[in-house]
Amino acid sequence: MRRSLVVGNWKMNGTRASAELLAKGIIAGLGSDHADIAVCVPYVYLPYVAELVKDTALALGAQNVADQSSGAYTGEISASMLKEVGCTYALVGHSERRSYYGDTNESVAARFRQAQEQNIIPVLCVGETLEQREQDQTFAVINEQLDAVINLVGIAAFSAAVIAYEPVWAIGTGKTASDEQAQEVHHYIRQYIAAKDQVIADKIQILYGGSAKPDNAKGLFAMPDIDGGLIGGASLDAESFLKIYHSI
Ligand code: PGA
Repeated sequence: MRRSLVVGNWKMNGTRASAELLAKGIIAGLGSDHADIAVCVPYVYLPYVAELVKDTALALGAQNVADQSSGAYTGEISASMLKEVGCTYALVGHSERRSYYGDTNESVAARFRQAQEQNIIPVLCVGETLEQREQDQTFAVINEQLDAVINLVGIAAFSAAVIAYEPVWAIGTGKTASDEQAQEVHHYIRQYIAAKDQVIADKIQILYGGSAKPDNAKGLFAMPDIDGGLIGGASLDAESFLKIYHSI
């Protein structure tokens, strides 16, 4: 049986004070240890939130990681830096990174590898745009996004990774994929991995992301191949994030 996971993605929001308040609010409402839970915090607030999550079930994550280990890469943050401040997870290939900042399938694969070299669990985000869905390109796009990583690190590396399916048309738009639409793609991803390694496919957590909210999380999480969520907007409020976590 796979354990579920809920990850909050705070994106570029908040202040040091609001980040600390949010982390404290989440920690206060964790309750039973029924699923894994993490927050991906803006880089500069990681050390402050790290202090708060120490000895709690709330894990820390970053929103990206450099594709190189160190050196003259102005503005980048390496996996070893993230490890040093206590990150367990790092998002790689979030669609906002891919579309606004030019993260390519190849650089996403390199980021994935960098994270794993520091024992950070990469959360590999994949998903199609509305145009790609309308042109029946969803599975082809996801194949390419997965293949770039599999070709670089090998399928075995997915035994220490998470995949997040985030249809780009559902991110921050209020348009959630229906339970069945999401399940169809999650099932596809699991089969794609299973064709290469059944054990890893059975074990890997595949999260859904894109306008997940307290009122739609339960239905999504009830789907057999949906193992939790990557939550943007609704993770900025402790109460709604906790409601999502407790609906698993
Ligand atoms: P959203 O964002 O929940 O605000 O749609 C999800 C994400 O971008 O990870």
